[in-house]
Amino acid sequence: MSFVETLNVKSIKELAIREKRVFIRTDYNIPLDNEGNITNINRIERTLPTIKHALEHNSRIILASHLGRPDGERDPLYSLEPIATILAEVLERDVFFFEDCVGMGAQQMVRDIKPGQILVLENLRFNPEEKKNSMTFARELAKMCDVYINDAFGVSHRKDASVNALPSLVDTKGMGLLMKKEIEELSKLIGLKRGDGFYSIIGGSKVLDKITIIRPMLEVVDRIMIGGAMAYTFLAAKGIKLGNSKVEEDKISIAREIIRGAEARGVDLLFPVDHVAAKTFDSTETEIFSNDNFPENMMALDIGPETVKMYVEKLEGCKYVLWNGPMGVFEKDQFAKGSLALAQAVASLDAHTVAGGGDSVSLMKKAGVKDMFTHISTGGGASLEFLKNNTLPGIDALR
Ligand code: 3PG
Repeated sequence: MSFVETLNVKSIKELAIREKRVFIRTDYNIPLDNEGNITNINRIERTLPTIKHALEHNSRIILASHLGRPDGERDPLYSLEPIATILAEVLERDVFFFEDCVGMGAQQMVRDIKPGQILVLENLRFNPEEKKNSMTFARELAKMCDVYINDAFGVSHRKDASVNALPSLVDTKGMGLLMKKEIEELSKLIGLKRGDGFYSIIGGSKVLDKITIIRPMLEVVDRIMIGGAMAYTFLAAKGIKLGNSKVEEDKISIAREIIRGAEARGVDLLFPVDHVAAKTFDSTETEIFSNDNFPENMMALDIGPETVKMYVEKLEGCKYVLWNGPMGVFEKDQFAKGSLALAQAVASLDAHTVAGGGDSVSLMKKAGVKDMFTHISTGGGASLEFLKNNTLPGIDALR
């Protein structure tokens, strides 16, 4: 029996969806630049197999997602309307959009769409009830589903109403094809133990999400290489202050605990030894400094060449790699070198290589190695939490 079979969750392919109102929770939380332009449509493309399957069965398709963290307020920057336009282009068919996700208007639109048509609802997080896992809000959403499908792996670690409360109100429910693929690929890392050559590279800026999940990883990995903004909190915990670099003071004690935990278990926990630094986030002039000579008026924004060299050397012997989050602000060319060099090194390994996180696809694309990884997950925090608990609140809710 495969791991996914043991979960006892049906896939969309096992459900009767013909001409039904199929409500698909997707994760269209896609990267936006400073002007709000969409920079990468990978998360949209990855839901196409599920949407196409529903189209083949002439379902009435309702797509719902969050985008960003608008805190329960309507914010045009985070509207899903541009996503409906992109879907229409890639699917080469009309895709309707409605300016709310619940209420009489949304319900009327759902009644109006015909078999084989697609409706995108407005951002679920414009409603404060979504983040509260509110049953009242879930009941409103349930009015629009005959069938509930979760294809939003990337947000299934959150107990949000559309992920957790809603499926409990719908009898016919299951996972989409992206969700199934994610579970199949990530479950290949379940059951590994120390000594199996399992290494992890962890970076990015969502420090709280990751720092708390590194803790259980200490039980199974042989080596962890830290980069990105979170490295500065760890270095601060070791007494190394890097000028104006971003440090989350309230996470320093957790960082210390992780450092002690790694020592006690014999896990090789590595930190950057040098950095690409600049005066501000927007500076194009950069300089390299080591941990020992970092000036007070600069901030670190990428790992430096010595760190890259050390991390590449330390990859030798690994059989599995889990990469989560970039080593620096790779969107800006001046702070991308560390992430790109390490991504290229990982991609050329003879190992099972998995990358996760919203930014990972953009990074691997920029490094020219997107198709060289074994699997690129659409989940960041979700993939780590799945490996920690072997399930997620959004998966449990589908049983
Ligand atoms: C993500 O991009 O990690 C998911 O969409 C979850 O978003 P969140 O961290 O805002 O809940």
